[in-house]
This record gives sequence, C-alpha cells and structure tokens, in this order.
Amino acid sequence: MNTLDEIKILLGDDWTQFETLFRNALQSKIDLLNTVNNYLLDHRGKQLRPVLTLLTANSLSGGGPSARVAALVVEMVHTASLLHDDVVDNADRRRSAASVKRIWRSKIAVLTGDYWFADAFHILSKYNESRLLPYFNKCMVAMGEGEIWQLEKAQKLDMTEDDYFQIIGRKTAECMALSMICGAVVAGANDADLQRIFDMGYTMGIAFQIRDDIFDYEPRNLSGKPVGNDVREQKITLPLLYALRQTGEKERATILRHVRRAAKKPRSLRKVIDFVHRQNGQEYAEQIMTDYSNQAVAMLQELPDTPYRTALISLAKFMSARRQ
Ligand code: IPE
Ligand code: IPE
Ligand code: MG
Ligand code: MG
Ligand code: MG
Repeated sequence: MNTLDEIKILLGDDWTQFETLFRNALQSKIDLLNTVNNYLLDHRGKQLRPVLTLLTANSLSGGGPSARVAALVVEMVHTASLLHDDVVDNADRRRSAASVKRIWRSKIAVLTGDYWFADAFHILSKYNESRLLPYFNKCMVAMGEGEIWQLEKAQKLDMTEDDYFQIIGRKTAECMALSMICGAVVAGANDADLQRIFDMGYTMGIAFQIRDDIFDYEPRNLSGKPVGNDVREQKITLPLLYALRQTGEKERATILRHVRRAAKKPRSLRKVIDFVHRQNGQEYAEQIMTDYSNQAVAMLQELPDTPYRTALISLAKFMSARRQ
C-alpha cells in the first residue's frame, strides 16, 4: 500500500464521509454537465489537498463536519483549476486518461471549471462556512496571478529564478497552504498558528510543483500527463532555468530558439530536453526540491506529536519522492 492509501485509512470516517460528500456535490439537472462530472469522479487523482485539510484539522483539535466540507471545497477548487489549466496548457492527457478539454473541447472544459468554482462557493455558504471565504478568495486571486504571470513569461521567454518561485508560489503553493489553513481554521487555531500552518503548506507546495516540473523532462514518468508539454508551451521551469544559467550567450540563444519552435518541431523539443539532461538540470531541481521538502518536515515537527503529524511528515516527503 502506498503512503496516500495508508493515510486515507488513518483518516477513517472523515475520509469515507468526504468521499460521499464529493460524489453527491455535483449532481445537476443538465445531462452534459452530469456526464462530464461523472467522468471527473471516475478519474479522481490523488486528492492530496483534502487529505492535507483533514490531517491538519485532526492534528490540532479535530474539525468534525466542518473539516469535511472544507476538504470538499478545496478539492473542488483544485479540480476546477485543472479543467482550466488543460485549456491554457493545451494538454490532452490528465490522470492517465484523455483530458476533459480533449474529449469535450475547450468551451465545455472552461464552463465546467467555472461551474465547479461557483458550486464550491455555493457549498461554503450552504454549510455556513463563510468564515473560510477570505482564505479561498486570497488563494484564487493568487492562482489567477500566477497563471497569467506564467503566460507573460512564456511569451517573452525572460523568466528568472525569482519569477519562477513567485509564480509556482501563487499557482500551486497557495492552494496547498489553503488546504492546510482551512483544516486549522475549523479546528479553532489562533492567528499565530494559522500563519505557521500556512507556511508549512506553502513550503510543501513549492516542493510539489518542482517535482511536477521535473516530470516534464522524464520520458517514462508515471504522472499520467503529457511529457515535454511545458517546453512546447514555452514554459521555462527550474531544470531548464538552471541549464540555461550554465551555458554561454550563444548556446543560450540557440536553445531559446528551439524553445520557440518546440510546439511545431519535435526535433527542437528533443534538443531542449537533451540540453537539460546534459547540464544536469533535473539533478539541480531535485536538490532544491529536497531542500524545500526537508524544510517542510522540520516545520511540521512543531505540531503536537500525533499519528496525524506523522502522516503529514510522510506527505511532505512524498511531495518530492512521488512517482505520480
Ligand atoms: C496537479 O496537481 C497540478 C499541479 C499543481 C502540479 P495534482 O498532481 O495534485 O493533481 P491530481 O488531482 O492528483 O490529479
Ligand atoms: C499547475 O501547473 C497548475 C495549477 C495550479 C492548476 P501545471 O500546468 O504544471 O500542472 P499540470 O502539470 O498540468 O498538472
Ligand atoms: Mg498544465
Ligand atoms: Mg499550467
Ligand atoms: Mg506540470
């Protein structure tokens, strides 16, 4: 059994009730919407974020039904962001299957994503959990900024390492931090603890996105997502950033030219990937990722010593060790 399955068992009723809530949340009178929703329910993903919410609540004083609602809404917001992400990234595969964008096309993917976002907020008010609203609002503003900033950098191809960390912080780490902070809010944590919990989630999120960006350079990875897609979309992530830093002006210009052509020319894509391998871009990114993961583990030690804390620590390690 893998880390995540074991953790879901540890969560017991909290997890089974979360799953029921998730299944029931998305019933609609519209046939097409139900078809797409059922497809998404059949291809569920790792569900890391609701796991984080429930573990955080339980590692403090517990969160009861509120924690399960928070977990549900976090997973809905995440799923909506993936529906949009595959349109933005022009990606045909997700969770080892065809993406919604591929099967039903962009209009349906965008509108279903909008529907999930809206329904997520509807659920918060239906269950009287509007105390969580400010956290969701902040996260979604950050995600929007991160995604647009990333597109701007992809057009100009002038990404710096500082831009990279700011972007992945907004588009990914904020949502991991949100997942944890919601668990802490429903468990009644004070402001100082909320800030510390936010930082733990954020740090894990950075490690998580670096791992994701390394997948793009691994020909036979198990992520269930297209390989080389970041390069095809001109997204310069940590392995390539490092590799570019290792070389002179001339080769840098050549590689950036290949990045511009990568979507149309498989040969150019190959050149960029080979260049990253040659310059040990993945190894460098792995080092940085491990630093973040270790930092998250150290921060998590501040939580009370419970099996939930132990699970959070193994999740922090999983963020960088994961194969999918
Ligand atoms: C994918 O997240 C999006 C990123 C932030 C890299 P996950 O890898 O958690 O996606 P699922 O939900 O498990 O498919
Ligand atoms: C994460 O970035 C995007 C979101 C936060 C939605 P990616 O675009 O790299 O995510 P994947 O690789 O498609 O899952
Ligand atoms: Mg993507
Ligand atoms: Mg993306
Ligand atoms: Mg990715």
